[in-house]
Amino acid sequence: MAEPTHIPVLVNEVLRYLVERPEQQVASSRGAGSDAPTQHTGRLPEEQLLIDGTVGQGGHAEQLLAALPGCRLLGFDRDPVNLSIAKKRLERFSDGATLVHDSYANASHHAYVHGFTQVDGVLLDLGFSSAHVDEPERGFSFMQEGPLDMRYDRDGEVTAETIINSWNVDDLAHIFRVYGEEPAAQVIAKAIYAARKTERITTTLQLAELVASVIRRRGKIHPATRVFQALRIAVNDELGELERALPVFVELLRPGGRLAIISFHSLEDRMIKRFILSQEGNTLQSLTKHVITPSEEEIRSNPRSRSAKLRVAERL
Ligand SMILES: C[S@@+](CC[C@H](N)C(=O)[O-])C[C@H]1O[C@@H](n2cnc3c(N)ncnc32)[C@H](O)[C@@H]1O
Repeated sequence: MAEPTHIPVLVNEVLRYLVERPEQQVASSRGAGSDAPTQHTGRLPEEQLLIDGTVGQGGHAEQLLAALPGCRLLGFDRDPVNLSIAKKRLERFSDGATLVHDSYANASHHAYVHGFTQVDGVLLDLGFSSAHVDEPERGFSFMQEGPLDMRYDRDGEVTAETIINSWNVDDLAHIFRVYGEEPAAQVIAKAIYAARKTERITTTLQLAELVASVIRRRGKIHPATRVFQALRIAVNDELGELERALPVFVELLRPGGRLAIISFHSLEDRMIKRFILSQEGNTLQSLTKHVITPSEEEIRSNPRSRSAKLRVAERL
């Protein structure tokens, strides 16, 4: 059985918002019969219900369950390999964790089945885990040779290879521009289209070298960085899943329950920020007027955390 390799980010901040809760709670507590919201601050009782939509290798989940021994947690992941690592890691909490192999976008169904409606907190820690880039055969890394895969769930139908070899130039350019924020999107898309006429593009290094041959390196960043990001987002429909899930999680939170989301690129962060703004004063109150980022110390010890952004909102 593989051991955890992923270091969870912003752990103290997640615990502060979901467990310690020093800020004023704005809504009434669970099951309150009165109309008047009971203002109450501080740590909540321990019999909590939490959802971890991206349980990964269970790093955050372990910390949450350790901090709230009476808590029950429903965890989701699309990647069965990560999920099996989380399962082993969370074993010691006996009945505390229920893990489901599915997208968090389907949380509603599972939440009803397992009695996780009216939850106290939802955590999302978006994107890929270290295991994905560290294992060349998953196809996420442009530094190591591997198949052009990039699926979190290997049962998924679309791989990066499918997209690269079958989408037309405009569709490829669109994802490179929108999901990768790649200025040379059209040039790269045309180069891929031309190259695949002579030979199918099947590996990570084949694609990375092709991209590097048509655009110049910008500083320290590898020329294929944005193209690989775009492909990963497209293969896993990451923005679509997030957009569908945000209202679902609001529905599943009890009044006073909190939604905490860690994202790693501006497209996701923008979507989260806009969603919270659109619900402000209606179903949600933002608790992070300014986005929360890791300390310099955390970035030094875990460089992958450098682009992490945390936003938290409370259900009204
Ligand atoms: C950054 S990692 C989470 C790490 C986790 N918090 C930990 O501490 O180990 C993100 C995880 O989300 C999973 N994932 C990505 N999209 C998902 C989705 N739509 N539904 C469920 N899991 C997803 C990935 O497979 C990956 O394991």
